[in-house]
Amino acid sequence: MRVFASGGGGFIGSHAVEKLLEGGATVTVYDNFSSGKRVNLPLHPALRVVEGDVGDLDSVRRAMAGADAVLHLAAQVSVRASLDNPAFSCRANILGFVNILQSAVECGVKRLVYASSAAVYGVPASLPLDEASAPSPLSPYGLEKLVNDQYAALFASLHGLSSLGLRYFNVYGPRQDPASPYAGVISRFAGRYRAGEPLHVFGDGGQTRDFIYVGDVARITAAALSHDATGVCNVGSGHAVSLLELIAVLEQIGGQPAAVVHDAPQAGDIRHSATSIARQRALFGETAFTPLAEGLKSLLESAPC
Ligand SMILES: NC(=O)c1ccc[n+]([C@@H]2O[C@H](COP(=O)([O-])OP(=O)(O)OC[C@H]3O[C@@H](n4cnc5c(N)ncnc54)[C@H](O)[C@@H]3O)[C@@H](O)[C@H]2O)c1
Repeated sequence: MRVFASGGGGFIGSHAVEKLLEGGATVTVYDNFSSGKRVNLPLHPALRVVEGDVGDLDSVRRAMAGADAVLHLAAQVSVRASLDNPAFSCRANILGFVNILQSAVECGVKRLVYASSAAVYGVPASLPLDEASAPSPLSPYGLEKLVNDQYAALFASLHGLSSLGLRYFNVYGPRQDPASPYAGVISRFAGRYRAGEPLHVFGDGGQTRDFIYVGDVARITAAALSHDATGVCNVGSGHAVSLLELIAVLEQIGGQPAAVVHDAPQAGDIRHSATSIARQRALFGETAFTPLAEGLKSLLESAPC
């Protein structure tokens, strides 16, 4: 399989590219390296790296020529940035997606897998969330991902483009930059814990999230490219964990107590989030998930970003 992988230099992308190379694919990573890094990628004879922006249709089309399958992970990934600069976010996340779709049709691509997000759901009306739960995004970022899902469905009916949108929940693991203001809570906590700095918890720490290890996400993402399932699929571990439980696991692995500071609750913070993984299981089998303690250990032992 010849795969064009946008955003392949990023956190999830670089792990997915490794899985694809291990499986014998030839990969073209297409990335503007705004948050991704070249050092995230291995030196491999079947890997080509093209520096480019998904906002540039001609450049995307040129780099995609000859691909059988497309993995689209490039995005402006920050909810905060999408609120502060919706036009910038829209260019990367909607125009960028349309450029991928148009290029895929023109290049005769057979299969598209792309990153949607749990952010499409907003505040859950009931838990666990599944793919039939009503979307209600709270940010331009969430709306952009929902529009991606709608565009993909339209291109399936207009052009027969087979696609699957993966609605990732909270992905964590090595190569997620803890210094980034947009880093997920686990990478921030792990970075601060490692540096002996206090962990800042908004509110009482009882809020829950579904955390899934990046190695598991990479396996599912790579498998989705060879699958023929269409539509959208939630991707999570199926377990909701509170921030206080998360800190307890961190302390258990690190062998020393963490200093925890409780800050005022953040406006708009979702209290509980959890996903059903019924569709994920049906499509990709009974995935053996990396336990949180094991994933956190790999993260703490990995080289700092
Ligand atoms: N990490 C999570 O928990 C999570 C959850 C839900 C959805 N997602 C989605 O998964 C995908 C990957 O996210 P990630 O966590 O690996 O973030 P990341 O920032 O590490 O990866 C994004 C990659 O896209 C590249 N990129 C950004 N804008 C680009 C552009 N205009 N043109 C070309 N390349 C561009 C970046 O340089 C980077 O390599 C994104 O689409 C994100 O929205 C991530």
